[in-house]
Formats: sequence, structure tokens, C-alpha cells
Amino acid sequence: AGDYQPFTTPLPVPPLLENLSTDPGTASFSLTAQRGKSRLVKEFLTPTMGYNGNYLGPTIRVRNGQKVHLNVLNKLDQQTTLHWHGLHVPAEFDGGPRQPIAPGTSWQPKFTINQQAATLWYHPHAMGLTGEHVYMGLAGLFYIEDEVADSLAIPKTYGVDDFPLIIQDRRFFQDGTLAYVQSMMDVMHGLIGNILLVNGTEWPVLEVPGGLVRLRLLNGSNSTIYRIGFGDGRRFLQIATDGGFLEQPVGLTEVLLSPGERAEILVDFSGDTKGNGPGLVVDQLPGGRHEAMRFQVGPAPSTSFALPEKLVTLDWLQEKDAVQTRTFSMETFSQSGPLAINGKHMDMNRIDEKVKLGTTEIWEISNLSTGMMQMPHSMHLHDVQFQVLDRNGQPPEPQERGRKDTVLILPGEKVRIIARFEDYTGIYMYHCHLLEHEDRGMMGQFEVV
Ligand code: C2O
Ligand code: CU
Ligand code: CU
Repeated sequence: AGDYQPFTTPLPVPPLLENLSTDPGTASFSLTAQRGKSRLVKEFLTPTMGYNGNYLGPTIRVRNGQKVHLNVLNKLDQQTTLHWHGLHVPAEFDGGPRQPIAPGTSWQPKFTINQQAATLWYHPHAMGLTGEHVYMGLAGLFYIEDEVADSLAIPKTYGVDDFPLIIQDRRFFQDGTLAYVQSMMDVMHGLIGNILLVNGTEWPVLEVPGGLVRLRLLNGSNSTIYRIGFGDGRRFLQIATDGGFLEQPVGLTEVLLSPGERAEILVDFSGDTKGNGPGLVVDQLPGGRHEAMRFQVGPAPSTSFALPEKLVTLDWLQEKDAVQTRTFSMETFSQSGPLAINGKHMDMNRIDEKVKLGTTEIWEISNLSTGMMQMPHSMHLHDVQFQVLDRNGQPPEPQERGRKDTVLILPGEKVRIIARFEDYTGIYMYHCHLLEHEDRGMMGQFEVV
């Protein structure tokens, strides 16, 4: 011990699983949830969980229109599930708490990809166990590609100029084992770590080409919100939100991501001297500011990219088409105890909202937590990609004008979202994506009928 040098471990890039035949044949994938040991931090070998490996899981890449068959095997000693976060699929294949996979058994979801190119992810969702399972390492990325993505002259070669960055914070005991919830504070604030991991590694370094590079950022932490930027404050372009491309790139110096949210950004390394490069700086809310990883700039790429001014045309849902407005209040403390939505805790035997198939609705979500226990919450809906209509009555920032499945609601804020519930009937979840909140009841069920 003691010889550990920061920014020397190469950033691991999860293996890519794909079947990208353009004839939309069937792509089959297997994921096995298992225990393992992983070198997350310094010299320790930490007991972890992963899919097909020790920590995290492979990146699955499919195309819109493709049929997908999965075989999910649970080799853990506990129940688990596998949920496709952001994916529009029939309720029975959603992988929420209603589709448990008992230890030693497997689950075979099947669906046809029915949405545009996006960076989605998958993670377990068993009742009361989501936070712990994700914390131990169960999560992976799920990419959808399509013709529009093909046609854009942006970096798209996995692990060459297009990299996933899964950002998570963790806390460890002295012996290098992961320290999950220890106190009521960890529940109320959510688990906030003091060590930042990128793709399951502390202080990695990534060699990038000396040109335009695409980074797909996932806030894969349990409860921490991040502001992510570069050590030298350089500008970059955000090109995609949770559910796919923005209409046009948005110039920024930092992105704000609550747990579960994604952003794709384009960064230009052509002006950096070879061998050097900036750090990725992650400001934890709450917590501290960390240099999470470093980039080391290699030779200029052979491909040159024409930065598009227009990325896609989005189908904007109209307020006047909404048949209903529902209100949700995310309550840190409620009449019925802590961490509730509309004063209720998750009950698998209760349907909280019934939504008519094929209709558009507005959901007005407020975070009324005040005083000592001001807590941010992050609202996530299964089944749909929604749009943010307004935040405290103001139009959303340009980088929030895209397809979203998770939205940050700060204390005192009221956010209105609009969504169309189509194609599939059945029971789906909505919940706070601070996983310690979700596991303790800050979740409800909506049924599309
Ligand atoms: Cu990413 Cu219901 O979760
Ligand atoms: Cu989800
Ligand atoms: Cu919450």
C-alpha cells in the first residue's frame, strides 16, 4: 500500500454488446447479476456486484426498430429485478418491482425498440433493495442508435472518440468494503460518498484523440447531484438529454445532473498539447469539489467532424392537448411520516394514478420541503419520455428542452412536465430517483388503461 498514484489507472470502458444489423432482426443479450470483487479505490479489492463481471455491466447497443430478447440471470443470494431506465416498453417487461427475479432464476423480457437514439441505462429495482444493489455496482448503459444518429457528423466510435462516463460516489470502510446506509441521515439526505468513481475507478485517466470527443455522462450515484465541468472551465456543447438529442447543441461550462439523469456532450481537445489535458471536475451537491478523472490528449484524429447546428426535430407536446393535470407533492416530511409523495408511501397493492392510453397529461410536481430538512428530489417516470413545460413558471433552460425521463426538483420548486402515454397498458412506477428515498416509499404506481 501507499504507492497508489492518482490519474495513472486507465479509465475502464465497459465491454460493448451489440447486434447492429440494419435488417431489424432479433438481438439477444444475456446479463447475469453476480457477486464479485473489484479494485474501485486504491489498493483494495472491494466485494461488489456486477453484471457479467465484477462491477457495473456491459454497454448494450441496439437500433430503433430492432427486436430485443434478453436473458437476465440472478446469481445473487437475494431477489433482484432489471429495469430499463428510459426505455418505452410493455409494463410486464419494464423490470420494476413488479417483476422480481428470485435467486437462482432467470427472466426473459422481449420488446421492440420503439424510440429515437438515446443514452439510457439499466439497473435493478427490487422493492427496498434498489439503492443497495446499485451501490454495490449493479448498473449498465443501454444505447439506442438510429438513422438520425448515423447521419450526424459527430464522434460515434465506442471507446475511441465516444466514451461513457458513469459517475458515482461511494464511501468505504477502512478495510475497503463499501459502506452503505449507516444512519437515518444517510436515508434522509441519501447516501453521499466522499470518493468519486468514474466507470468504477477512482482517479482514472483517459487518453482521448486531439479533436472532438463525445462523452456520455450518467449520474449513476444513489443520491448525489453533480455539477460537471472541466478544470480549466472550457466550454463544451451539450447535444443530448436523457431521451436523446436536443434540437441544437447548447454551449455550457457545466452540466447539472441529478441521480439517474444523462447528458451527452462534445468537447474539443484539438487545442491541448499532447500528453496533457484537463481534469473532469465534479462538484457534489452536497459534498465537495473533486477532480474525478483526467484526460490525456493523444494524436489528432483522422476523421474530422462537421459540427451540426441542427441535430433533430423534436415533436413538441402541446399544453392544449393535455386531457388532465395531476399534482404531485414530494414531501421530505409528511403527515404519514418521512419521504412520501402526496402523503403516501409506496404500496404495491395500490394503484395511485390511472392514465388513459393514448392521452397527453400534465404532471405538476412540487418539492415543498422547507426549513431544516430542505431536500432536493429527482422525479422519474417509467414508460415515457416527457418534456419540461416550465420550472417555477419560467420556461426551462435550453439544455432542459429535450426528451427527459428524470427531472431535478429543488426545495421550493414547482416543475410542470407533459407526457403522452401511448402504445402499452399496464402498471408503471414514478418515484424519486434519490434511491434511498425511493427505497423508503417515495414511489407510486400509475396504470395505463
Ligand atoms: Cu432508474 Cu424506476 O428507475
Ligand atoms: Cu426507470
Ligand atoms: Cu427524494
